[in-house]
Amino acid sequence: MYTMNAVEFNEKIMKGHFRKIYPVIARQMVERTGITKGECIDLGGGPGMLAVCIAKITLMHVTVVDLMPECVELAIENSLEEGVRHRVDAVQGVAEQLAFADASIDLVVSRGSIFFWEDQQQGLAEVFRVLRPGGWAYIGGGFGTVELLREIDELKADDLEWQRKRKARMAQNPPEHFRAMLDRLGIEGVVEHQEAGTWIIFRKPQS
Ligand SMILES: C[S@@+](CC[C@H](N)C(=O)[O-])C[C@H]1O[C@@H](n2cnc3c(N)ncnc32)[C@H](O)[C@@H]1O
Repeated sequence: MYTMNAVEFNEKIMKGHFRKIYPVIARQMVERTGITKGECIDLGGGPGMLAVCIAKITLMHVTVVDLMPECVELAIENSLEEGVRHRVDAVQGVAEQLAFADASIDLVVSRGSIFFWEDQQQGLAEVFRVLRPGGWAYIGGGFGTVELLREIDELKADDLEWQRKRKARMAQNPPEHFRAMLDRLGIEGVVEHQEAGTWIIFRKPQS
């Protein structure tokens, strides 16, 4: 089971070292999928900074889903602080069992979470189920650009534990692992792997 100190994560990571990556990743997600209105889920959204950034550049209503109740509270606080509370909600839940109706969601985004899901394949199947025909998923992990990755690497140079865990996660989750999972699920999509991140991107067919 995933654990972390959510308050520390919020202060040190999201509002500290990582702050700059969220607007960049949000922009990449919106430009790639072309979705700017409707319902969005930020799955494993933690304290909600990606959700906040998506709400700021679109007309979407974004729901943060996270297994930790502390993250749900922090996501609400952050969306209030950032002036987008009217379009951001947060609920406790797990990727493997989403409390959303079939075909009800236009865009599912997720950063840095799938690596921790207990059953990644079931989580992706759930994402596919809740997407409406024509809806998109953009799920994976990364830092936006190589330049931002380098900045974070420098800031975290002394944090050997962080470096070790990141490498281990990447080794356990190579792109072929996710490609095979999409094949098993019969989902047509791509897994893009670059130095700055690995992303599973797919669109649910129209019919
Ligand atoms: C490294 S944090 C990333 C948070 C946020 N997406 C970000 O990029 O700042 C991973 C998050 O995934 C959540 N998580 C882990 N397993 C999950 C699951 N099965 N379903 C939903 N959330 C999960 C954790 O509670 C945590 O908030």
